[in-house]
Amino acid sequence: MKILGIETSCDETAASVLSEGKVLSNIISSQLNLHRKYGGVVPEIASRKHIEVILHVIQEALDLAGITIESLDAIAVTKGPGLIGSLLVGLSVAKAMAFARGIPLIGVDHLEGHLYAIFLETNPPFPYVGLVVSGGHTNLYIVKDFCNYQLLGKTRDDAAGEVFDKLAKLLDLGYPGGPIINKISLNGDPARIHFPRAQLSTEFDFSFSGVKTAASYLLKSLSPEERSSMIPHIAASYQEAIVDMLVDKTFMAAERMGVSTILVSGGVAANTRLREKFMEDGKTRGISIYFPSPHLCTDNGAMIAYAGWKRLQRGDRSPMSLNAYSRKDLMRIS
Ligand code: KG4
Ligand code: ZN
Repeated sequence: MKILGIETSCDETAASVLSEGKVLSNIISSQLNLHRKYGGVVPEIASRKHIEVILHVIQEALDLAGITIESLDAIAVTKGPGLIGSLLVGLSVAKAMAFARGIPLIGVDHLEGHLYAIFLETNPPFPYVGLVVSGGHTNLYIVKDFCNYQLLGKTRDDAAGEVFDKLAKLLDLGYPGGPIINKISLNGDPARIHFPRAQLSTEFDFSFSGVKTAASYLLKSLSPEERSSMIPHIAASYQEAIVDMLVDKTFMAAERMGVSTILVSGGVAANTRLREKFMEDGKTRGISIYFPSPHLCTDNGAMIAYAGWKRLQRGDRSPMSLNAYSRKDLMRIS
């Protein structure tokens, strides 16, 4: 079965062709440079760029896969969560193509895509605990099988990626902040400043507002000279606090659920300290850790095609009235 996956939930226009779950092509057109000067994604600009480039991106994905639209057996498309205007571009194109060709359309939840991206490279054993950590989400799941998972917890306030971006903004370092803070932290002492680690009564939820507020107060209390000499230490200590919270909660979830496999995906999964700490702790605790390759951790069409393929195999189909949603928590789907 050849399936086209289309992803336009945020600022990446992406399309991929899979054949029996194997990637034939995976094209991603990033809008990062358009949004950089605004310090974040501007929804209207994102939608307008998607509509401009989507057909080129799809054509490139088909060309690279060496097929034409006539050989496609189904179309998978992200239906949410994400920016509504952006999602509607992908949905409209997917519907038009499925209708014109008379082939099945399957709407895919974006987070479900992230949870299965790893299967494009290897086969981790079920069940596993999945942490999806990006600029829009910090969600923890127990994944029992394909199409069978449950949300255990999520952030109460900002997503972890946003918290990285916030510090970079406070320090005037640019956007997106995650990779910048990650790089600067290499020259800093992570133990120099103690940022708070939130303890929530709800077991598997996260909260990053404390660390964000603490950083903003600290910066206000420093002179310009102190501030510039402290930047690497502030970055490293801040990063350490975020990493500690993510790692601790995820291992706690694995322990409580009695599973010995963890998957980490989403843009923040590129963080080198996060990877290092997960790997170190995994070794000591006897838990296998899986990270998809960086290009499959961030938004892409291949993960959407894969999740769509699994749903199509169960006989799922979406109607032509399929609509987009901006926010929805993935609860139990079985
Ligand atoms: O998954 P993604 O590309 O887009 C969505 O948010 O959907 O994630 C982007 C987020 C940004 O907040 C960015 O700062 C963060 O991931 N990020 C990182 C790193 N690389 C990207 N955060 C920490 N360390 C990194 N190396
Ligand atoms: Zn994403």
